Amino acid sequence: MTETKQGGSAKMWGGRFSEGTAASVEAFSASIHYDARLYKYDIAGSKAHAAMLADHGILTREELVAITDGLSAIEKEIEQGIFTFRRELEDIHMNIEKSLVERIGPAGAKLHSARSRNDQVTLDFKMYLRDQCDSLIDLLDAICRVFVMLARKYLGHVMPGYTHMQRAQPVQIAHHLLAYYEMFSRDRERMVDCRKRLNLSPLGCAAMAGTGLPIDREQVARALGFDGVTANSMDTSGDRDYAIEFTSDCTMIQLHLSRLSEELVLWSTQEFNFVNISDKFCTGSSIMPQKKNPDIPELIRGKSGRVVGSLMTLITLVKGLPLTYNRDLQEDKEPVFDTVDTVSASLAIMAELLENLRFNTGRMAEATQTGCMTATDLADYLVLKNVPFREAHSIVGRAVAYCLEKGCELPDLTQAELAGFSPVIGKDVYEVLSVEGSVNSRISIGGTALQRVQEAVSAAETRLGIA
Ligand code: ARG
Repeated sequence: MTETKQGGSAKMWGGRFSEGTAASVEAFSASIHYDARLYKYDIAGSKAHAAMLADHGILTREELVAITDGLSAIEKEIEQGIFTFRRELEDIHMNIEKSLVERIGPAGAKLHSARSRNDQVTLDFKMYLRDQCDSLIDLLDAICRVFVMLARKYLGHVMPGYTHMQRAQPVQIAHHLLAYYEMFSRDRERMVDCRKRLNLSPLGCAAMAGTGLPIDREQVARALGFDGVTANSMDTSGDRDYAIEFTSDCTMIQLHLSRLSEELVLWSTQEFNFVNISDKFCTGSSIMPQKKNPDIPELIRGKSGRVVGSLMTLITLVKGLPLTYNRDLQEDKEPVFDTVDTVSASLAIMAELLENLRFNTGRMAEATQTGCMTATDLADYLVLKNVPFREAHSIVGRAVAYCLEKGCELPDLTQAELAGFSPVIGKDVYEVLSVEGSVNSRISIGGTALQRVQEAVSAAETRLGIA
């Protein structure tokens, strides 16, 4: 077994050790290759902590200046890519602290008073996630704006609505687009809510029982933009609910993107030919020269697998953990980071693709003309003429069967033919059998009538601040 030569003393916690850590253990347990991402938050947290320690007499003013300047220098080096991260120092917290001590000496060694890596890591993680919530909220607003822009543009154009992937009832294209607007608006609300719940500072809980040193948790919380402090030090030390909640909210976003992707893949087939995805977002085949493949929606749909997987990873991670901090929790970061990268990139590229998407309105309207899509309207017509709905359903069912046999659509039948199915069917029936009549009759709240969809577009524009 190889051991690193420095022995116990080189480690920040080496005092009680007589042997150095095995190289294999250092390699196995290090997290610096991924938690270096948290450096900004670690440094901001340390600066706020140090300022509070100075106010409470644990650091002198000179020591505080040395610490703050040292941390700023480290931050600059990290940003310039010239800071040397050392794997034997495990994680971002130890790398920064050790470097500070090497630069400024004993003052640096005082920084960790009244603090543990347990409250430090959860502080960094929460600050990071807070920023990610904000950036995802912006990305969700951006994609919502594209849906509303498209809905406005295609107002009045119709397409088939589907259930069971079978033509069901004609709807407005804008209505279908606004369905996605609603889904991503809910995702936005979830992000706002997630941010609110996670925005309580853990710092000062120390390892898990709090500290006997005279500190002011609220002062640090305020300085770092938190809404308050967590209530129980043991809960805080082992809590990763916020990471699970965030990843779950991200999973919902990715699921919505995945469903949309599935529709785009279908709609761009020659069989549907409802949309034209811009060449900029497609790729060709290396063997079939005629191909134009919808790779971006396919990849987004595929990437939902890794996001769902990350959520499962986190849930499984905490499932059997006793209170409080356990080293298992170090495994929380990679799935969250991967989720952030995947969902952010997917949202951004989908918004761009949609902005460049063309709907084949003629083809979509044509698709509403077949499949007896106004059958429900005929049944409703009968209901208004006092026929019980179940009976109306069966009358229309027979009329549809007749059309199928004749190879025609409901509006192609003469009034005499229609009256053969029910004597209450009069000349006025043709108003409800037209696609336009059908769509515009659906004026119930949330329905697809032009008037309703216009209102929905305007409400969305107001919410998004679109003039
Ligand atoms: N790298 C650790 C993590 O990500 C930091 C906390 C370590 N705490 C400890 N007691 N070993 O969880």
